[in-house]
Amino acid sequence: MPHLRAQGDATQLVVDGKPFLILGGELGNSTASDLDYLRQFWPLFDSLHLNTILAPVSWELIEPVEGRFDFSSVDGLIGQARAHGERLVLLWFGSWKNSMSSYVPAWVKRDQARLPRAELPDGRGIEILSPFSAENRQADARAFAALMAHLREVDARRHTVLMVQVENEVGMIPNARDHSDVANALFAGPVPGALLSYLASHRDSLAPGLRERWESNGALMEGGWERVFGSGAATEELFMAWHFATYVEAVAAAGKRAYPLPMFVNAALIRPGRQPGEYPSAGPLPHLIDVWRAGAPSVDFLAPDIYFPNFVEWARAYARPGDPFFVPETGRNPVATPANALFAIGRLDAMGFSPFAIERYQASDRLAEAYAVLQQLAPLILEHQGDGSMVGVCPPVSLEGVVNDTVQEVRLGDYTLRVAFTDPFGRAPAQGVEGHGALIIQLGPDEYLVAGRGITATFSTPGAIAGIESIREGQYIGGRWVPGRLLNGDESHQGRHLRIPEDSFGIQRVRLYRYH
Ligand code: DGJ
Repeated sequence: MPHLRAQGDATQLVVDGKPFLILGGELGNSTASDLDYLRQFWPLFDSLHLNTILAPVSWELIEPVEGRFDFSSVDGLIGQARAHGERLVLLWFGSWKNSMSSYVPAWVKRDQARLPRAELPDGRGIEILSPFSAENRQADARAFAALMAHLREVDARRHTVLMVQVENEVGMIPNARDHSDVANALFAGPVPGALLSYLASHRDSLAPGLRERWESNGALMEGGWERVFGSGAATEELFMAWHFATYVEAVAAAGKRAYPLPMFVNAALIRPGRQPGEYPSAGPLPHLIDVWRAGAPSVDFLAPDIYFPNFVEWARAYARPGDPFFVPETGRNPVATPANALFAIGRLDAMGFSPFAIERYQASDRLAEAYAVLQQLAPLILEHQGDGSMVGVCPPVSLEGVVNDTVQEVRLGDYTLRVAFTDPFGRAPAQGVEGHGALIIQLGPDEYLVAGRGITATFSTPGAIAGIESIREGQYIGGRWVPGRLLNGDESHQGRHLRIPEDSFGIQRVRLYRYH
């Protein structure tokens, strides 16, 4: 069965006994709800070199009547994926999808008395199921467990389905917390001991904001929420995060009992300066990572949906040492997204990458080129993950969209590589340097592979001058290096640098030597 395993500092997804790199794309929300509509896109997915589709499974479609399951939408999806040689990561649109509960079946929507919603301070309900209701939790867990049992039945041998995301972008809005009577009573009650024990036993690795709140209030091991963490919206958010996490835990655990595929949750990220309640609060955000870990141990990892331009910064917030790292959603930026894939996989050992609304891409997009390169390199990448012999570089972009084109230095083995994103001859790049980047692997003591676009690399080594012996461009076919042109003369600036032009992705291998 697909599972996660550590390789050095990285976590890999293992499928059929071998590590697997997800070159993914996530479907738009409604695309898989009509199998005939979905059918048209598989040739495109093939041209984009995808090996995995992330696709929703919605509660309303699989359990239209309580207790009566209809898995035709799931079976149809699996059938189409198999017919086109693709794998799937399924997204459980259960109690919550982008905070809201729009994907719950009609019988849930219509029975507010039994299956209650979160409430505003004035007592009005909102279209968000309350995480404080055992009925809600059990109904979701039953449906999810039925889905996982069905997957076991139809897919335990083929392994078309690799992982499952539990819920989608859980969050509370427009207030920091639910104000139902049950929620009010629990908020006035003690902080659960399980959360406090977790904080105490993980004190040194806690997210800085959380540790500060807890310690500045005396690092108490018992007491009410506002006593332990101080009053205010941030504490209300912690309270909600704990209850969302424990609810998701019940759902994930029920699913794992039926079929223990790797499971994760995804986060809608936030703009700096916004207060809880002004954004979908209490999801698996960086400042709440510990609360989610403590509350939802059956969830294997937390993943970011990175739509902001500062991809590098957000990715780093989730790729913490020892944590599995996967990007289930990222924005549809045809220029930056492919370079971000090289960075996430090369630098942060991502087990996969997946731009959102993949059916809106075109076969001529840069993503297809980047994925073609990653597809060729996948066996090599997987071999080098977690052992410090691989990096990814791209110019970081700020939240405001300012691209930092400063030269980056990376040390790999005995050599330091200086990677520039601007043109070495001072020509203005046709479209700026956003989207430039590379994945670099050390192949031997004097040999490096550089894959990417729009970069120039020079080399240095302590105690000697680093010279370029030779550079070859080429391709990996069936995992074997097939060399192409020997790049010298103008292509290497007469042996001074390695250069991949900005007009397309390429792979080059360079051999270095030392002289004095
Ligand atoms: C993030 C959500 O997780 C997706 O389902 C989708 O709604 C996108 N946002 C839309 O940009």
